[in-house]
Order: sequence, then structure tokens, then C-alpha cells
Amino acid sequence: MLKSADCGALREGDIDTHPVLAGWVDRRRDHGGIIFVDLRDRSGIVQVVFNPELAPEAYKQAEALRSEWVVQIRGKVQRRPPDTDNPLMATGTIEVMADEVVVHNQSLTPPFYIEEDSGADEALRLRYRYLDLRRPSMLRNLRLRHNVVKYIRDFLSDRDFIEIETPILIKSTPEGARDFLVPSRRHPGSFYALPQSPQQLKQLLMVSGVERYFQIARCFRDEDMRADRQPEFTQLDLEMSFVEEEDILQLTEELYTGMVAAVSPEKRVITPFPRLTYDEAMDRYGSDKPDLRFEMTMTDVTELANETEFRVFTSTIGAGGIIKGFVVPGCGSYTQSEMRQLEETAKETGAAGLAHVRFRGAGDLAGLTDEDVVLSSGLRMPLEWSIRLATKMGAKPGDAILLMAGKPKEVNQWLSAMRSHMGKSLGMADENLLAFAFVTAFPLFEWDQEGNRWDSSHHPFTAPAEGEEDRLDGDDLGSLKSKAYDLVCNGSELASGSIRIHQRRLQEKVFQILGYSKESMDQQFGQLLEAFEYGAPPHGGIAPGIDRLVAMLAGTASIRDVIAFPKTQSGNDLLFGAPAPVSPEQLKELSIRIDE
Ligand code: AMO
Repeated sequence: MLKSADCGALREGDIDTHPVLAGWVDRRRDHGGIIFVDLRDRSGIVQVVFNPELAPEAYKQAEALRSEWVVQIRGKVQRRPPDTDNPLMATGTIEVMADEVVVHNQSLTPPFYIEEDSGADEALRLRYRYLDLRRPSMLRNLRLRHNVVKYIRDFLSDRDFIEIETPILIKSTPEGARDFLVPSRRHPGSFYALPQSPQQLKQLLMVSGVERYFQIARCFRDEDMRADRQPEFTQLDLEMSFVEEEDILQLTEELYTGMVAAVSPEKRVITPFPRLTYDEAMDRYGSDKPDLRFEMTMTDVTELANETEFRVFTSTIGAGGIIKGFVVPGCGSYTQSEMRQLEETAKETGAAGLAHVRFRGAGDLAGLTDEDVVLSSGLRMPLEWSIRLATKMGAKPGDAILLMAGKPKEVNQWLSAMRSHMGKSLGMADENLLAFAFVTAFPLFEWDQEGNRWDSSHHPFTAPAEGEEDRLDGDDLGSLKSKAYDLVCNGSELASGSIRIHQRRLQEKVFQILGYSKESMDQQFGQLLEAFEYGAPPHGGIAPGIDRLVAMLAGTASIRDVIAFPKTQSGNDLLFGAPAPVSPEQLKELSIRIDE
């Protein structure tokens, strides 16, 4: 080894030892006669001192050192002189008096400072990702990710799961996105598809009798990108035979609680994880991935709103819409201009508008007078109506009620965005709390307006809820429930799974509702349908997204911060410059002609 100790690990207990250190020059300071070098390796930073009287040769070399040069330093650990301790550094009470230095490599001036708040644009950081990853927080994220995956592997191995790799070059596995295709040279005009998830493969492994499978699986989806989406991402993919929904939920809860305690003990988790049906989640929070760090539940007040002559309400109700809202505690004294600002925020998230009722003062509702209640302009109602509204919604004097009007789906979407905004801006979203919850009983199908057809809410392999099978022939498909469940946390979907269909007849029925002809079913899913005829056991599973989980544990909003080499929002790899054109020879080999 070219080093005998880690820079960031040296402490007072190491005083008088003679370590060999190796790392990067974080910065060099020349203090008239003495040179200080902060030496950095992945463990942290230590201060190295070059004294021309004690080590003239080393001092001379130190004069030439620049940021990011790679050096090996031999020296002696000593206590820092009085009053020069740096309490911000873990090694802040000691320093290394250098005897010898070897320069292993020089460095160009980096395009940005390698420090926490370099302020560098993300595109530049991604272009030079290998430098960006030298920042301590990025290294910390990579280590956290390693710890998460290691915990998962140990946890599942202890419970008799087998880790099995499945192919990357395969055929389309629909998860609701477009496929990435790989042309076949040997079969001109034919393509492999990269798996959107190993869904069918893990089900086939259940038919094989594996019973307990998992994989840290790479998934590929060509879809619109967001901060929590990448075109290739990682799932813990998991499947079990002879299980019911309850078994998977319990295993998942045990996995997450144990993992958080092991890798991020500073985070708080509430157990048992609350459970909400999809309908409850939508009613109360307007979202199937509610942030449960704060309450602010929603109430449908269409009936009360119908008593008003407020045009926005009456015309919405007339068109079959609803009026729904939530109470914001402590915001009754907001000024007109603060309310206008909230309305702007609502509009930025797509809402048509935001109505409100503010209750000034304190005490209880019975003590309110006309002067205490301020309604949106246009909403002219007597005190008695506002009090009935407050009673229904659970508002007290000092609170504000926010209301939105529109079709149920859009009102839920807008209100939920507004609820998240208020929760965060009022400081109700405790950064150290991971508010996990299971959302269950998702609809089996949802109507795709654009395609004018039924789509699976989860994926087509999801089993209908108990007793719903007979209704597959009915005309109320939108009300059918499934055995699908999600694990959500702080407003994000972390994992998704279901109990699966394991009989050919039922699977074919579902495909048929989704609009597949007999031929297209056989062509796309023939392998699974056929396997179901050879003794497929009842089975189910779940797939937690690893990137989202690690981002949440690391406290970062973007999953790019926890992926070593991520892609940009537009799917580019700025480091390698991918995607990139290929040579005409390569295209010819693949029998592909580019249509300019
Ligand atoms: P689903 O498509 O819901 O289910 O994905 C499961 C979890 O994977 C994560 N995830 C993503 N993370 C980053 N970028 C993306 N583009 C992305 N897409 C999904 C999320 C999500 O909850 N085969 C089923 C699972 C099953 O039924 O067992 C599936 O893939 O955290």
C-alpha cells in the first residue's frame, strides 16, 4: 500500500506516530515561511505542515503543489499549537509535520472547486462527474447507497431468499413506459427490448419453484424525466410464492424499519406503518402518495358551497364538479396580499383558482363576529354559513380554509400540490421524520381518455381483489379493486407491488379488457400464459426503488445525487456524450438506415 493511514481518521491518539498518507491537495496556503496543505482522501481532510527548517527538501516541493495534485506524504502527527484548533474539522486538533513528499500526479485547474457549496452548475458537475464525486457529500451518498444495498442483501438472505440475475436483453415487459430497443445484428429488423422491470421473469421464477427471489435489478424506461425519475434506475425486485398481501406488507415494513435504524439512525420512523386504501388516500389527501408528516386532511364541501351564489362554485357544481379544501392552522390572520400570493402559488401548480375563508382571533367558533371572518371577494355569505363550514372542516378561530373548485381528479391534484406547499412552507414537514404508509386496494383499471380504452392502474399481471373476479364481465370496470399496494413516504412513491394473477384464463380475460387480441397476447405474453398452464403457484411481490429511497435517506430532492453516473433531465450522459451517432459501418451491420 502507498498509504498507512487515512487522512480523516487521524486523532489525538495518533500523536507521535509516523503515518504515510496519500491523497489529493485540497488547498495549499503559504503563511510566509511555512506552508500548510490540506490533504484529502475519501475519509476526510488533515492539515499537513511544511517547515523549511525541519524538512527543507519537502518544503521546496510543497511550494510547487497545487489543488488536486496527487501526493504521498510521510510525516509525524503532532498536537496543533495552542489556539489554532479548528473545531469544524474532525482532525482539527492535530496536524502532520511533513518529512517527505512524493508527487504522484499533477492536475489541471478543476473547472469548479471541489467543495460542498461549489455553486457549480449541475451540467458542469455532470460533465466532470469524476471530480464532482470527490466532494465529501457525494462520497457519503455512494457509501449510504452501498449500506442500503448491503442491508437488503443480508436481510433477505437471512430469510432464505435467493438472489437471481435475469437478462437485460429481452422482449418488451410493459410497465407503462416506452421501451429502449437494441437492434439485433444476427436478426436484421428484429430488436431486443431492455426490461422496464423483471416483472415477467420473476413470475416465471415462481413457476420454476424458486419461492423466494430477489434481485438488485436495473430497469430501463423511456419516459418523461423528473427529479425522481431516471431512464435507467435500480429496484430491489422481490417475489414470493404461497403468500398473501399481508405477508408482503409485513416483510416490507420489517425491511424498511430495520434498514433505517441500521443506515440512518438519525431518522425517525413511526411503526406500525399506517395503512390507507386508495379511496381513503384520495379523499383525505387528494393523492395516492400523501405526505403524512403533517395532517391537513381534505373535506368535500360541495353541498355547503351549493348554498352560495359564488359563480365559481355554482358553475362548477352545475357542470358535475366538486368543491373541496383543507384547513391551514394558524393562517387566519394572513393579509390580503399574502392570500393573493397563495393564489399565485396555486395557479403555478395548474389550479384554476383558490378561494378562502379566514378566521381571525382566538377562542372558539361561537365567539366569532362578522368582523372576524374574511371571505374571498365574490363569496358573500353570512357568518352562520362560515361557522357551519368551519365546523364541517374542523377549523378554529386563527385558521384559514382553502377551497378549490373543479372536476374531482383535477381538484385533488391541485389541492394536494397546495397541501404539500403549505406543509413545507409552514415548517410542518419534519426533515428527520420518514412518514411511511401503505396505500392498498388500488383500482384494477383506469380509463385512458386519450387512448379511449382501459389501462391497468398497476400492471396487467395484478390480481383483482377478493370477490371482484366475477365483475370482470360487468360494465363497471372502473370501480373494480385490485390486490396492488404501494409503499409511500413523505409524498413520494417508494415501492409498488401486488398479488399476481396465476391462472391463464384470468390473465387472458384481463388482457382482453385491456384491448389485446388473442394474437397480440400470445405474441407479447405467450411465455407467461403458457407457463401458467404448468402448475403456477399463487404468488406476489413488490419492487422498492433504490434511488428514491437513498435520496430520501440522504435528504436530497434529486435522485441524480445518489447515482454515480446519472443522466440529465433530457436523458443525456454529459460525461460520455451519450446518446451519440454511430459509424455508417455499424449501422450497416445492423441493417439500419437513418431517416434524416
Ligand atoms: P413500478 O413501475 O411501480 O413497479 O416501479 C416500482 C418502483 O420503482 C421506482 N421507479 C423509478 N425510480 C426511478 N426512476 C424511474 N423512472 C422509476 N420508475 C419507477 C419507484 C417505484 O415505486 N414490476 C413492478 C413491481 C411489482 O409489481 O413487483 C414495477 O416495476 O420507487
